[in-house]
Formats: sequence, structure tokens, C-alpha cells
Amino acid sequence: MNLYNIKHPEEQVTFSQAVRQGLGRDQGLFFPEVIPQLNNIDELLELPLVERSQKILGALIGEELPKATLDEMVKNAFTFTVPLEKVEDNIYALELFHGPTLAFKDFGGRFMAQALAAVRGDGKITILTATSGDTGAAVAHAFYGLENINVVILYPKGKISPLQEKLFCTLGGNIRTVAINADFDACQALVKQAFDDAELRQAIGLNSANSINISRLLAQVCYYFEAVAQLPKEKCDNVVVSVPSGNFGNLTAGLIAKTLGLPIKRFVASTNVNDTVPRYLKSGNWDPKTTVATLSNAMDVSRPNNWPRVEELFKRNGWNLSDLGSGMLSDSETEDTLKAMNAEGYVCEPHGAIAYQVLKDQLKAGETGIFLCTAHPAKFKESVERILGIQLSLPEALDKHNQLPLLSDEMDNDFAQLRAYLLK
Ligand SMILES: Cc1ncc(COP(=O)(O)O)c(C=O)c1O
Repeated sequence: MNLYNIKHPEEQVTFSQAVRQGLGRDQGLFFPEVIPQLNNIDELLELPLVERSQKILGALIGEELPKATLDEMVKNAFTFTVPLEKVEDNIYALELFHGPTLAFKDFGGRFMAQALAAVRGDGKITILTATSGDTGAAVAHAFYGLENINVVILYPKGKISPLQEKLFCTLGGNIRTVAINADFDACQALVKQAFDDAELRQAIGLNSANSINISRLLAQVCYYFEAVAQLPKEKCDNVVVSVPSGNFGNLTAGLIAKTLGLPIKRFVASTNVNDTVPRYLKSGNWDPKTTVATLSNAMDVSRPNNWPRVEELFKRNGWNLSDLGSGMLSDSETEDTLKAMNAEGYVCEPHGAIAYQVLKDQLKAGETGIFLCTAHPAKFKESVERILGIQLSLPEALDKHNQLPLLSDEMDNDFAQLRAYLLK
């Protein structure tokens, strides 16, 4: 697979290089030079998730990785189910939260970990990252147990929820977690200082496991196929998919699936009040405003960093951006939606609820709607319980970690100490 830097198309890399490097020159995003048209979609839709995903990723990545290696990577990454639940007659929820950290990030994160392990070469790798909560869990679980990859996660002591802390600080093995006596910004600054230290970077093979990594997006393509595969046959003709969007990685993956030939009629980009994209699609003006904190906090993004990839796909496919649906919900509308969904018997969390309502508002007669549920309601336990007036029980995966002792080290906000710790 060859990829080019969207900002500097003359910069071209292989899949392995793109996975190792993350970003190109000037922070440019890598994008596949060719996305093949698959001519066996019906056959693919008959296969189970893992087998189908091996074929899709094989077609995208090509012969750069031996087939057996890629097949193994997919098998190790996609170890959980993706149920499509009927919510209304013509509306379905694709539940992407049945992985170990109960969020859609398990797909991208776990596949990226496998990809990095496969292409890293001989040297050892240290993944260093700072987390204000959720990223830590996704990274820790994705890399847990991988040989010659050490993971160090910094987080602000006492400033993440006890449940979040339990989820990634109880693993041990190749995952080390450090509670820093400072805030999240300080943790991020420490990580940045480590990356700026060329000698340290070289000595421990520093890598960031950046969320912009192309391997994540490719993995996410697979669950769009799974959604259509699970739909009743008679509902497959006019499928509309609503994607709760922040950085627009998830939507990019859906558009790649459509480019491959998956029969999706159109997409709807659903946001909270941080609605740079819905406003842009209506007015043609790119006018990001100051980011506002909302209930759907993972979508509190006003400068979505994957947007150039979305535009690139529309341009290359000769599609018109006016065909991309969009809409946004305020927090009070999100609360109302959560209540209405609960009354219909479906407990959701704020991100999925936004995707549901925007879809419902725009779905036309004869269309079948799918909205993506990107996180388990228990991940947003406080708001969901407050809004719905119910008690959510912890899913087994969370409960298991909740019972285990914390294994974190503690450190002051001191780079010299961190450096010594990393070199240990
Ligand atoms: C629960 C949840 N929903 C939706 C999103 C938005 O996804 P994207 O940034 O790919 O648009 C995120 C992003 O982190 C998320 O965590």
C-alpha cells in the first residue's frame, strides 16, 4: 500500500512507514494512493467479521505484509462482537462498545498495536502517552502483552475518575502507569519534552501511538461492512449511516468503506454544538469557534483534524459535499433524546444519542438508518444516571478491573525523574 501526504503529495510512504511515522511533513495526514473497488461485496457480506475483515484489509494494504501476518493481526485485534440492534422499525444501532475498554476506539487501537508490532523492525519500542482518562485505557489494553513494546502512561493524580484509573492501571506486564502530581497539561508537557529529547527518543524507541495513525482508520472500515451484513436483506437498498463526529476519523472510515463499494446511500455527520462542519456544509465558510464543553465531551472539537481526509475522498471520488448530511444537537436536546430513547427501551449515552436524533430528523421514507453507538452507557455513568434517573450496573469488563489493586507509580512533575524512569 502506498500513501501520500495530503499537504505534500510528493511525500510518499509505504503502509509500514505510515504506521511507524504517524504524520508526514508539516503534520500532513497520510492517505492511500489507491482504494480498490471490490467486486465481491455480496460474498464478503456473507462472511463472519474476522474473515471478512481479513479480506478487506488485505485488499487495502496489499502484499506489503504477508497474508498470514495480516490475518493474525486481524484475528488478535477483533476479539469481540459488534451487535446491530433494532431500535425502531427502520432505525438500527451499531454497538461498537463491546471491546475491552467499552468504546469504538478498541477497533482502531487494537489493530494499530498489532500493526506497529508487525512493522517495527528489530528495535524495541516505548509508547509514551498522557491521558486525561479514556485514551490511557484504549492504549493500555491494545498493547498489553505485546512483545518488545513497553507502554508508559502518564495521568494527573486524583484528576481522573476512579473507574477510569482502574481500567488501565491494573494490568501490569508491559504496561506501566504513572500518577503525576500535577494536572493533565503538565503530563502532556512531560510527554512533549520526552519527544524533544533526541537521545532519549533513540535510546528507547519512542513512539506516540497517535490517534491520527492510518492503521486505525483502516480497521474502522471493517465495522461498516459488519453493519450492512447484519441488516435484513430487504433493508439493504437505501442505507443511511449517522456518525457521531468529533475529529471525523470515524466518518472517514465510513467513506472509505463506501469507496470500496459498500452500498451506503449517504452519510450524516452528527455533532454537538461544536458544529464547525455542519455550519461549513451549509454556508461554505470554514469558521471554527471556541470549543465549548458538552455532555458528549469526546466530540468537543472545533477544528477536526481528519477533515482534510474527508474532503480528499469526496474530491477523488467525484462526490459532491452537498450530499453529506449533517446536523447538531445542543445538550438539552441530547438530554431529551436520551429520555425519549429510554422510553422506547434503548439506553444510550450522549454521543450515540446525537447520532440517533440527527438521523431520525433526516431519514426519508424508504430509507433504513443506522447510527453508531461509540461508547457503552456505563462510560458516561454520571450523566446517563442523572438524566434518566436510573442506576446502571457495570459491565463485566469494567467490574473485573474495578476489583483489582492499582499498580501505578507516583512521580512529581519533574522531567529528570521521568527520563530516568523511562531509561530504567
Ligand atoms: C465516544 C466517542 N464518540 C464519538 C467520537 C468522535 O469520533 P471521531 O473523532 O472519529 O469523529 C469519539 C472520539 O473520541 C468518542 O470517544
